[in-house]
Amino acid sequence: MRTFFARFGLAITILLITVIGVLSYTLYRQDVAINILSETYMRTTNELSATQGTLSEKEAGLTAKEMTLEETKGALALAEENAIELSRLLKEETERNDAFEGQIKKVSGTVVKLDKLSKMDSELLMKYSKIYFLNEHYVPPKVVPIASTSLLRTDTPEYIDTRVAPFLTDMFEDALEDGIELKVVSGYRSFDEQKSLKNAYTVTYGSGANTFSADQGYSEHQLGTTIDLTTPAIGGTYTSFADTEAYAWLLEHAHRYGFVLSYPKDNAYYVFEPWHWRFVGEDLADDLHDDGKSFYDTDQRKIDTYLISIFD
Ligand code: DAL
Ligand code: ZN
Repeated sequence: MRTFFARFGLAITILLITVIGVLSYTLYRQDVAINILSETYMRTTNELSATQGTLSEKEAGLTAKEMTLEETKGALALAEENAIELSRLLKEETERNDAFEGQIKKVSGTVVKLDKLSKMDSELLMKYSKIYFLNEHYVPPKVVPIASTSLLRTDTPEYIDTRVAPFLTDMFEDALEDGIELKVVSGYRSFDEQKSLKNAYTVTYGSGANTFSADQGYSEHQLGTTIDLTTPAIGGTYTSFADTEAYAWLLEHAHRYGFVLSYPKDNAYYVFEPWHWRFVGEDLADDLHDDGKSFYDTDQRKIDTYLISIFD
């Protein structure tokens, strides 16, 4: 044994020292490593804490923002509801206003119509000719002389209601464009003029005058809206006027200017008078023409509905 230690004592000692040294160094390195790890751990932990803190702050901020967004959405939804409600109320109000405006217009339209009608001479569309009496004081509001170029006899003036004159002028001009020459034989006749005329006819024809001449107060000529027409080739108020192109033209076109034939063939009042035309307004004249009816065969109540528009 001594021999063994004597021989290997040094080597064993060196070995032990080496082992101890290695162990010590290893322990030292481990310690250093632990320290490093520990520091890293601490630092990481701190960073983590810091990051968590920041994260919490961010989360808190986000929550606040989310809340603000929710609140904004809520406010927006409320505003939208309010806007819809307001729009509904506005629509209702507008509809009420429109309806009210419509009623006002209707009422004012009726007032205007009534006013116009009240100023309209109700005599203008009455039936005379032995039916309705036009008293001796009736005179048209205003008459104008008919242009001498439109008269058959230029030595005596003839008159027509001022409001009818433009219709007559138009009719004569248009007829002339179609090669038709119309002439006025007789226009407005006062109550007294009719009386004198009828008396003169009665002297000549006796009671036969009643077949073609109205008594004073019953003649449409007293209205100032009625005219006797002819053409130069005929030269007066003769039944033969019915055979002319001028008469055919009147039958076809006169209604467009508001004139109607008062006494067609086989009427109940007088002989056939192709020359005697009365202004009743375009609307009524058109309707009578379209319906193939005469003025005297039409109900007076229906005729009266045209009074308001007679000069339109
Ligand atoms: N010739 C018609 C009927 C009148 O005298 O009024
Ligand atoms: Zn006449």
